[in-house]
Amino acid sequence: MPRYNRILITGAAGNLGRVLRNGLAPLATKLRLTDRGEMTPPEAHEETVICELGNFEAIMKVVEGCDAIVHFGAAPLERPWEEILDSSIKGGYNIYEAARQHGVKRIIYASSVHAVGYERRESGADTDTAHNPDTLYGVSKCFVEDLAKMYFNKFGIESACLRINSCYPKPADRRHMATWLSFDDLVHLVERCLLSERIAHTVVYGISNNQEAFFSNHKVAHLGYRPKDSAEKYRQEIEAVVEPGDPHDPAVEYVGGFLCAYGHPDESERLEP
Ligand SMILES: NC(=O)c1ccc[n+]([C@@H]2O[C@H](COP(=O)([O-])OP(=O)(O)OC[C@H]3O[C@@H](n4cnc5c(N)ncnc54)[C@H](O)[C@@H]3O)[C@@H](O)[C@H]2O)c1
Repeated sequence: MPRYNRILITGAAGNLGRVLRNGLAPLATKLRLTDRGEMTPPEAHEETVICELGNFEAIMKVVEGCDAIVHFGAAPLERPWEEILDSSIKGGYNIYEAARQHGVKRIIYASSVHAVGYERRESGADTDTAHNPDTLYGVSKCFVEDLAKMYFNKFGIESACLRINSCYPKPADRRHMATWLSFDDLVHLVERCLLSERIAHTVVYGISNNQEAFFSNHKVAHLGYRPKDSAEKYRQEIEAVVEPGDPHDPAVEYVGGFLCAYGHPDESERLEP
């Protein structure tokens, strides 16, 4: 028997949304998938809805009838302020407020390493490390993490805020040796957050079982997250083609990597994930 009746996945057309669309199917009778972009046609156990996260009425409709939300839709990296404001900040608020009004009790939120991006690599951060965002993107993640905390304390809606590091098919550079999260480990992490009996307001780092790591999840063992993959098996391949960085470059000094060296998004070249 699936644990949930209907799980909503936002950002379902995106890179990680597509992974979760497959991976979370066993957990719910129905998956409702939403995005502003086109999704592949729904299977029998799926429903698709195209809508804007910044449109509260549309979000109210999409959340109705769901018993959990996996909120991955957002500006996926540093973007112009208006886009961050509409998609990530207003979009985050709309999801939490629609959840409150419809009685949804649990939300899994795709936060980011960039909520603490200006931590130094050697500082040994854990899940109690205070917000230290490196971008407007990071600020939007801090905002929604705090919103999640307020909605738990005031209204009892449980949240897991996943500070995802670098979730790609495989590591692509030296920083990824510490920050990589495999797709299988992402699915396992979201699954644990949906199935754990009590999550209250939990912050957890989305990282695989890498030998190098900037972050520790030792305070959130209650989730039962046990990543199986490791960036280590790609070390030779990466080190053969990527030169070591300058340790005084902000992109190496801080856990947020190259975004720590990136300027104001309204004055800089557009980034693609
Ligand atoms: N991929 C990573 O390594 C990584 C790391 C940290 C955090 N995250 C977070 O995970 C989430 C998913 O990331 P991704 O890599 O799949 O990015 P992605 O760009 O592939 O997916 C994001 C999806 O959100 C949708 N979206 C954006 N704005 C929207 C709006 N206003 N209304 C409706 N839909 C909207 C986009 O159309 C897109 O399909 C994001 O919140 C991102 O910040 C990803």
